[in-house]
Parts: sequence; structure tokens; C-alpha cells
Amino acid sequence: MANIRVKECLGNGYHADPQLFLQAWNHRGHDVRMDTTDPSEVAESFWEKHYRARRTWGERANPLLVETAGPLHPGAALDLGCGAGGDAIWLARHGWQVTAVDISATAVAQVRERARELGLGDRVTTEQHDLARSFPDGEFDLVSAQYFHTSFTLPRAEVLRTAARALRPGGLLLIVDHGSTAPWSWNQDPNTHYPTPTEIAAELDLDPEQWPVLRADMPRRRATGPAGQTATVTDNVLVLRRTL
Ligand SMILES: C[S@@+](CC[C@H](N)C(=O)[O-])C[C@H]1O[C@@H](n2cnc3c(N)ncnc32)[C@H](O)[C@@H]1O
Repeated sequence: MANIRVKECLGNGYHADPQLFLQAWNHRGHDVRMDTTDPSEVAESFWEKHYRARRTWGERANPLLVETAGPLHPGAALDLGCGAGGDAIWLARHGWQVTAVDISATAVAQVRERARELGLGDRVTTEQHDLARSFPDGEFDLVSAQYFHTSFTLPRAEVLRTAARALRPGGLLLIVDHGSTAPWSWNQDPNTHYPTPTEIAAELDLDPEQWPVLRADMPRRRATGPAGQTATVTDNVLVLRRTL
């Protein structure tokens, strides 16, 4: 593997070793090789290859997005690291005006195309951003970061702080992280530390008067893996509301 110079993801201990991450993905037949030392290009190249290699584009929304957004009055939503777009499509179907953002041009193009096919094109705007470098314009009633994990350089806490500032008063920031190792995960390192919701909140270091915590817990759920296998997994959930 040529010339990889990637750093540990800042502020998120989930993907502890980028080289191991790449090896695991290549072992699964992804053939990820990188010959750049620009951290942004390395990350973009990895995720772009990941989404180009994807054969199916499932539209499953994440359960905690559905649980959180379901009771809300629809407004403007921002999906950070939208991936295959299941959440963006679900939100659009439920009346939200969605901005779906990912580092992968292929991912955002697929989400845009799928929204158009479903007659939701006027509800979904897609933007390609390396969120380490740029952030979409606008104000939002909901910002969702679902499993916004990467093995590459990402000032995640800074991105999430920017997201909190992009909320309208009354708006919610929903962060859902992995809290356990699924049997199908590339990373079976028993020493992996999954930051708890309290640790994530501490890292964000937001003024609790302006962004009080509405929810910080670690629910368990039954999850389905890529080959249809099931297992119980834990999610680490943090919800903040912007008050003013
Ligand atoms: C683990 S996936 C989660 C995808 C989706 N939210 C879900 O729940 O299935 C992480 C996503 O973040 C995106 N991503 C990683 N680094 C990024 C960055 N620097 N800027 C924007 N998106 C990024 C990846 O392309 C990928 O789609």
C-alpha cells in the first residue's frame, strides 16, 4: 500500500488505527490504495472508493433518527455524513427540507438521484463537503450526525460545534455514535474505547445554558449486518437543544 500518511481521527477513539482500517477494508476486497499525503484527499479517496464499490443503496433510516425526528414538526434538517442517504430520504418523506452532506461525491450524487426518482428532489439538497474544511450555509431545526466516524483526520468536535451554532433557537443537534462492536465490524479490537455521551458532550464544550443536554444515554437495539445477520448493539446518543 503506497505512501499512506493518515492520522488518528481526532476526538473519536472509534477507529483507532487507520492503517488497520485500510487493511481490513482491503481484506474485504475493496482495494483501497492511496498515494497522496494530503489528509483531505486521503479521506475523500477512501470514502469515494467505498461508495463507488457499493452495489446496493439501501434506504433504511437509522432508528434513532426516526425516533428523534418522528415527533418533531418538520423544518430544515442537515444530515452530516449522509452516506447512502436513508436518513435524508426519510426526513424528506416526512416533510423536512433536507441538506445532505458527505465527503463522497458518489454518495451525494446517489442521494440526489434517489430523491429525484422518489419525487422528493425539491426537498433534498446535496452538497459535497470535507467537513474538516467547509460547512454548508444555512440555519437548521435539526442537525443529525449518525455514526459520523472516520479513521482519517477530522476535527469532529469542531465540526459538531459548528453544527450546534448552525441551529435555529429550539433546534436539535442529534449525535448517534457506535457504542459497541458489532460482529460484522472491521474492527474487532476488544480495547476499542467508544466515547460515552458524557465524554462527547465534554469534548464539545458548549455553553450548557445555550445548548442544554436533552438526552445522553446508551440504548441497545437489535441490528442487521450486511449479510443479514443480526446482533444486539449499543448506540451512544447525545441530543442538545439550542435555546437562544
Ligand atoms: C460510518 S459512515 C455513516 C453514514 C451514515 N450517516 C449512516 O448512518 O449510514 C460515515 C460517513 O461520513 C462521511 N464522512 C467521513 N469523513 C467526512 C468528512 N471529513 N466530511 C464529510 N463527510 C465525511 C463518510 O463518507 C460516510 O458516509
